[in-house]
Amino acid sequence: MPKVIAMAGKGGTGKTTLSALLLKYLIQHQHTPVLAVDADSNANLNELLDKRVGITIGQVRKELKGDIPPNMSRDQYMEMKIHQALIEDSGYDLLVMGQPDGPGCYCAANQYLAMTMDHLADNYKYILVDNEAGMEHLSRMNLRSIDCLFVVSDPSARGILTARRIAELTKPLAIEIKRQVLVVNRAPEPLSEGLAAKIKETVEESLLPLGGILPASNELVEQEITGRSYLELADSVPVVAKAFDIFKQALGE
Ligand SMILES: Nc1ncnc2c1ncn2[C@@H]1O[C@H](COP(=O)(O)OP(=O)(O)OP(=O)(O)O)[C@@H](O)[C@H]1O
Ligand SMILES: [Mg+2]
Repeated sequence: MPKVIAMAGKGGTGKTTLSALLLKYLIQHQHTPVLAVDADSNANLNELLDKRVGITIGQVRKELKGDIPPNMSRDQYMEMKIHQALIEDSGYDLLVMGQPDGPGCYCAANQYLAMTMDHLADNYKYILVDNEAGMEHLSRMNLRSIDCLFVVSDPSARGILTARRIAELTKPLAIEIKRQVLVVNRAPEPLSEGLAAKIKETVEESLLPLGGILPASNELVEQEITGRSYLELADSVPVVAKAFDIFKQALGE
């Protein structure tokens, strides 16, 4: 059974950034193969990995509703299409979910898809899911449990309160979340006393332990602007080193 790690947090807090850094960590620590899933309908994890998106799972689902080639069973066709949708690289594959089908659609296409995704999942050691803001997207993935959920926050009191609320919103979901940790991203250095106190208070009052704090980083901004893969960032870049510490601890290594 693969271990599942997912991201949650308000828009623009750094979920995709953290996903790319986590993928780097998993590859470099031989936790491979990894299936990286871009579950944001506006796919952009591929950009941080310098990959172009081909067909998305949303498109596969649409095609399944239409006619399939006469010489193929629906299962075979589905399997073939999903393999076409996989972007393969060394140590990991990237799968882009694309546009959702609309809420509450449990049509046959979705069921086929869920089954095939289950099969696919067995090929990997880790599944990493980059979500868009909002917890409902996690349900789309048909995951039964998440081993570790990173709740990402911006470095503000209100941001941290929101993260805490997001963590609470996971309770009614039909997904077992074994562990969730708070990551405060883009923090100024040094951290203000007020913010440090707010983080401490949130962590103590809620069941959201602090995974760690990531500094604002010009290296990340540069890497994004030049379009180079985040996987090529040096391990010595402070934000990378700090992120690796957080992952190591959160994954119990
Ligand atoms: N530690 C950091 N230092 C500097 N810039 C950062 C840092 N973390 C994220 N950013 C920048 O902030 C922007 C938003 O980050 P990112 O796309 O990872 O957020 P997100 O939570 O995935 O957003 P969305 O909700 O839109 O998917 C990006 O331009 C990213 O480069
Ligand atoms: Mg994102």
